[in-house]
Amino acid sequence: METQSQSLFEQFLAPLFGSLIDKEALLRLRNSIDWEAEMAAIAHPQVTYPDYYQTSQFHGVKNGYLNIDAAITYDPITQYVLPPSETWVRESLVHAIQGSPRRILDLGCGTGTTTLMLKRRFPQAKVVGLDLSPQMLIMAQRKAQAAGLDITFRHGDAMQTGLDATSFDAVCATLLFHETPPTVAKAVLRESFRLLRPGGQMLVLDGNQATLRQLDWLSNIFEEPFIREYRQGNLDAWLGYAGFTTVRTQNVFMLNQLSTARKPLPVTDPATTANQWVVPQEADGGPVPVPTA
Ligand SMILES: C[S@@+](CC[C@H](N)C(=O)[O-])C[C@H]1O[C@@H](n2cnc3c(N)ncnc32)[C@H](O)[C@@H]1O
Repeated sequence: METQSQSLFEQFLAPLFGSLIDKEALLRLRNSIDWEAEMAAIAHPQVTYPDYYQTSQFHGVKNGYLNIDAAITYDPITQYVLPPSETWVRESLVHAIQGSPRRILDLGCGTGTTTLMLKRRFPQAKVVGLDLSPQMLIMAQRKAQAAGLDITFRHGDAMQTGLDATSFDAVCATLLFHETPPTVAKAVLRESFRLLRPGGQMLVLDGNQATLRQLDWLSNIFEEPFIREYRQGNLDAWLGYAGFTTVRTQNVFMLNQLSTARKPLPVTDPATTANQWVVPQEADGGPVPVPTA
């Protein structure tokens, strides 16, 4: 991880956020939560934290997301860092979900902002949010309760969720992969492939890799330990390696990108009795056979 004596975040953003954020209200919120009791209720004793997660200082915060203050300040800060507006950027993913999924998984759900939007858009669906940080999950759970939304929040590692294979129609990951080493992002995509039913949809909303490569200062500003490795990568290729087809990536206001892909449908060729994979529904003309991975 690159360290600076005084990062751009400390120099410019912290003072800015300091003036925009109601610190007294945050302190009241912090003090109103029985963290010990809520952590005991949500933390899964068998979850183990990967090295990168325990040793990295995301946004310069010691203990990264395993920290109450990171969880408390996440929403107030995030609203200012997703232009043109946080809701608009997140809606790009929510509105890209096709059909009426009955089971939706939000990996690395954090404080659950996208998870709540998913449940609002698909009220009949079972929506599950999964994250490694109990502190972030506590915030997510409180938001869902306050909004009267029935969402399951689960403590776990997105690389190895322990959830059943083929048990979701859509799997989403928002702002997760720029915070992980690419090996982790690829492992999460493989796990997502396992979790999706054939024909299910994968959606990834994250920093725009091409823009980040061009604007170096953007990679410095938020103190993201893995953003340089992330921007050198290619999400389309990572989705392809995981087995997904019909991969599409589009810009979301230049700073972010949305990738969508499908888990192919297996079909048996009666002539050879060998399994092939078929892309579920190509908009521009019928299912297309693709080679077995
Ligand atoms: C930048 S936050 C994004 C949170 C949320 N998806 C959003 O859009 O606001 C990244 C989240 O990913 C979680 N995370 C990182 N690695 C993870 C992993 N291997 N499994 C589950 N969650 C992980 C962190 O705990 C953190 O809550």
